[in-house]
Amino acid sequence: MLDELNAAKSQAEKDFSAVSSAEEMEKLRVKYLGKKGILREWTQRMGSLSVEERRAAGKGINELKQLVETRLTEGQAALKSRRVEERADVTVPGSRPPLGHFHPVTLMTDRLIAIFRGLGFEVAHGPEVEVERYNFDALNFPPDHPSRDGYDTFYIRDQVLLRSHTSPVQARVMENRKPPLRIVIPGRVYRPDTPDASHSPIFHQLEGLAVDVGIGFRDLKFVLSTAMQELYGADTRTRFRPSFFPFTEPSAEVDVSCMICRGRGCPACGQSGWIELLGAGMVHPNVFRFAGYDPEKYTGFAFGMGIDRIAMQWYGIHDIRLLLENDLRILRQF
Ligand code: DAH
Repeated sequence: MLDELNAAKSQAEKDFSAVSSAEEMEKLRVKYLGKKGILREWTQRMGSLSVEERRAAGKGINELKQLVETRLTEGQAALKSRRVEERADVTVPGSRPPLGHFHPVTLMTDRLIAIFRGLGFEVAHGPEVEVERYNFDALNFPPDHPSRDGYDTFYIRDQVLLRSHTSPVQARVMENRKPPLRIVIPGRVYRPDTPDASHSPIFHQLEGLAVDVGIGFRDLKFVLSTAMQELYGADTRTRFRPSFFPFTEPSAEVDVSCMICRGRGCPACGQSGWIELLGAGMVHPNVFRFAGYDPEKYTGFAFGMGIDRIAMQWYGIHDIRLLLENDLRILRQF
């Protein structure tokens, strides 16, 4: 009888290892655990056994029952996970999530930063909500300067405004650090201009500042002409015209030879062969005084350029408003 039980156990092992479907599994469940199943049969046979035999048989029957139950749960779990695999066709190509990409102004900002990094400049940032003290006072703007007017600057409340240029970050950095200093400051600036093809109340600037002992105008010319050659090509020429900014002396307006006609004259440059690109100059001694630098010891140069305009020229975008409307048909092209 024990031999018979052992045979039943190995038969059960064999039966369960051959199962390949839920139906077969169910048949085995009935075969072993059903009302007329093998285990029921064995339990009934117990009645006709001697006490001795019954003890041994009881143990064997329990083992058989446990075996069947374990194989049954294992088998059912395995079938279930196989069903999930069957439903997921791993050979189907994955769906591509829509990928964003950089805005043309961001692309140009990154290019400019890379160029100036190559010339030894590091990147600094400052707040877009600024105070008059940094936006104007620190930069040697007289108290009655017209750009302090509410028509030229967005005021949030008295003394607090949306910065109208990135130049205040010059003062913020100088207040916290000692020379030598070579920084560029990219960022958004705000002016209450009525939007048209070339004006937007929000635009972007890249500011530059270098301060050290013995810095001269030649250094400004070298840095800017080299940067423009890197940006527009080795044959790009640069022109410095006298200008005025409160925070630089002397000041210059910098033009580059038109990248479209290469200086010969075309509609893009108004036939002049030159494109106005940025403002620059030698840092005014009063700016150094405000920051706590000794203007007898240190000199420096600064510059500021409109990134949107450069990006528009580069990518052939004719209306600055297109940069802000978030129209994907435009943005996807860059
Ligand atoms: N902040 C000036 C503007 O917004 C641009 C500028 C001119 C920045 C000359 C400078 C500079 O650093 O030296 O029009």
